[in-house]
Amino acid sequence: MSQIESVLHETRSFPPSEAFRAAARISSAEEYERLYRESLDDPEAFWGRIARELPWIEPFEEVLDWSGAPVARWFTGGKTNASLVCVDRHLDGPRADKTAILWEGEPGDVRTLTYAELGAEVRRFANALKARGVKKGDRVAIYMPMVPELAIAVLACARIGAPHSVIFGGFSAQSIKDRVEDGGCTAVITADGGWRRGKPLPLKATVDEALVHAKDVHTVFCVRRCENDVDWVEGRDVWWHDAVAAADDDCPPEPMDSEDTLFLLYTSGSTGKPKGIQHTTAGYLVGAYLTSRYVFDLRDDDVYWCTADIGWVTGHSYIVYGPLANGATVVMYEGAPNEPHPGRFWELVQKHKVTVLYTAPTAIRAFMKWGDEHPAKFDLSTLRLLGTVGEPINPEAWMWYRRTIGGERCPIVDTWWQTETGAIMITPLPGVTATKPGSATRPFFGVDAAVVDEEGNELGPNEGGLLVLRKPWPSMLRGIWGDPERYRETYWSRFPGLYFAGDGARKDEDGCFWIMGRVDDVLNVSGHRLSTMEVESALVSHEAVVEAAVVARPDELTGEAICAFVTVGAGGEPSDALRDALKEHVAVEIGKLARPAEVRFAEALPKTRSGKIMRRLLRDIAAGRETVQDTTTLEDYSVLARLRGDEE
Ligand code: WT7
Repeated sequence: MSQIESVLHETRSFPPSEAFRAAARISSAEEYERLYRESLDDPEAFWGRIARELPWIEPFEEVLDWSGAPVARWFTGGKTNASLVCVDRHLDGPRADKTAILWEGEPGDVRTLTYAELGAEVRRFANALKARGVKKGDRVAIYMPMVPELAIAVLACARIGAPHSVIFGGFSAQSIKDRVEDGGCTAVITADGGWRRGKPLPLKATVDEALVHAKDVHTVFCVRRCENDVDWVEGRDVWWHDAVAAADDDCPPEPMDSEDTLFLLYTSGSTGKPKGIQHTTAGYLVGAYLTSRYVFDLRDDDVYWCTADIGWVTGHSYIVYGPLANGATVVMYEGAPNEPHPGRFWELVQKHKVTVLYTAPTAIRAFMKWGDEHPAKFDLSTLRLLGTVGEPINPEAWMWYRRTIGGERCPIVDTWWQTETGAIMITPLPGVTATKPGSATRPFFGVDAAVVDEEGNELGPNEGGLLVLRKPWPSMLRGIWGDPERYRETYWSRFPGLYFAGDGARKDEDGCFWIMGRVDDVLNVSGHRLSTMEVESALVSHEAVVEAAVVARPDELTGEAICAFVTVGAGGEPSDALRDALKEHVAVEIGKLARPAEVRFAEALPKTRSGKIMRRLLRDIAAGRETVQDTTTLEDYSVLARLRGDEE
């Protein structure tokens, strides 16, 4: 079978309000079409012009060199520095005294840094790195809570040309060890702890455990955050505050070639060891800069909040590099969304007068579950634009977000992209696109997206297939660290010359893309290939259900049968009657074909720490197999035990 059948029939459409449109950076369909055409027909002119909006130490000679495909070289011959783009370029004018980072800790402590202050901190810590012998080309691992020093550390590494490898602060010692070894990191930056649900998460202790046998790590910088006790390795460990106190704030940016590595970021594939996704300097920055500007429609008076952690690519591109390159005021929050109460996010929106909010479907579904009374307590009227990323968003959650958070006033940008793409690829432009609940809508500038069958032939409207990108783009990954063969094999071997993203999708009659989830997760029932996302959306549209994950399990009759795992909300109670009602609901909503053979109630679903449901683990459970899969990225191990019934 070469296609994935689409059974989702969503017809609602929401054009931007006239007021939003009129004030937007891109405000007409004609303008979008013209720029989009130019970006595909004459990428050199388009990207060359955008790149020249950013500061260069030496100008580039050529916009794109694709002769070494699949490794692209963008803006060849140019030299710049990410800290120049994100900080120094704002220091000569009025933005010097504008708030760059508006940070709130979980306990409620607030710190703000103007661009001038951020610049000084970055230069000082850059000198502290140098003083410990860290130099251009050395890799530095960062394992920190969401405190301002995390953004400072990232930019300081960039300033001296030392690629950073940020490891999400929830990962285990083993995960740190693997990543530090694979990246050949020689220094680590951490903190004593970070606040999470009212307790300090002992980060330094986890780093110590990870580094027991790490001979190559000569320095561990430690930020004092929670004042919890830490062990100290003399000669290796340095307090951040001591290091910066001894450093001066004069540190010219290292001239970096456009194609010098800016960072590595590890992402776990469904199999095998994590991949060190490698991004380079100029192309990545151009992508992060332009998408932030147009997708979030950033203006000088915006208070922009992306709720991701800097440990994920979303935080790299849309907390640090993209918004700062645009001179935005960026909100950063340290803690959990329900600490000390389930309305904490909305309290933050009210308190800091947030105007643009970017979050994930998994968070939105949690907010729905916690109840409308929490956002209702706060004034959310400053919000003007909402965004989501990370998974397909089911239309019910989208509608809730629009109504309850956006007051039916804010456009929603559902942004499809990946760690590998570096920047947003498919997205509405908020002043132009009529959005549709569940669709990421149109390709961004320079993005040539298509849906193809197994042979690589482009499919027609509404035919589900494989999502590919047919042209290189500036912020694309340049490789997998240390494994060029795996890079080729994973992304470029399925269809020669095309980037295969691993996602299923369909494109509708208006040219809007509907992402159908990972193709590895596709269900095959009686010879019909169905998207997990669509069946899950149908389940979640039932009033009793808050979250659902469907997987296929072997079935003698149908080849595979659908097994649904659902969590019910405050309004529902697990029962046989509800089980039957849910099967019937799916049959009515999308057809008998998709009717689950089995419905299992779960208190929680197994998720990665970034909120993605780990369906491969559910497949084992549905089939009654022991899991032999990699579970190191699982957020909460007890969820798995409970699903298997080990703890009953
Ligand atoms: C995968 C990439 C990109 C930052 C966070 C995740 C899924 C991401 C969407 C969306 C449908 C989405 C895809 C993609 N995904 N955004 N708006 N609609 N699916 O980065 O961990 O590299 O994951 O997340 O499956 O391939 P990542």
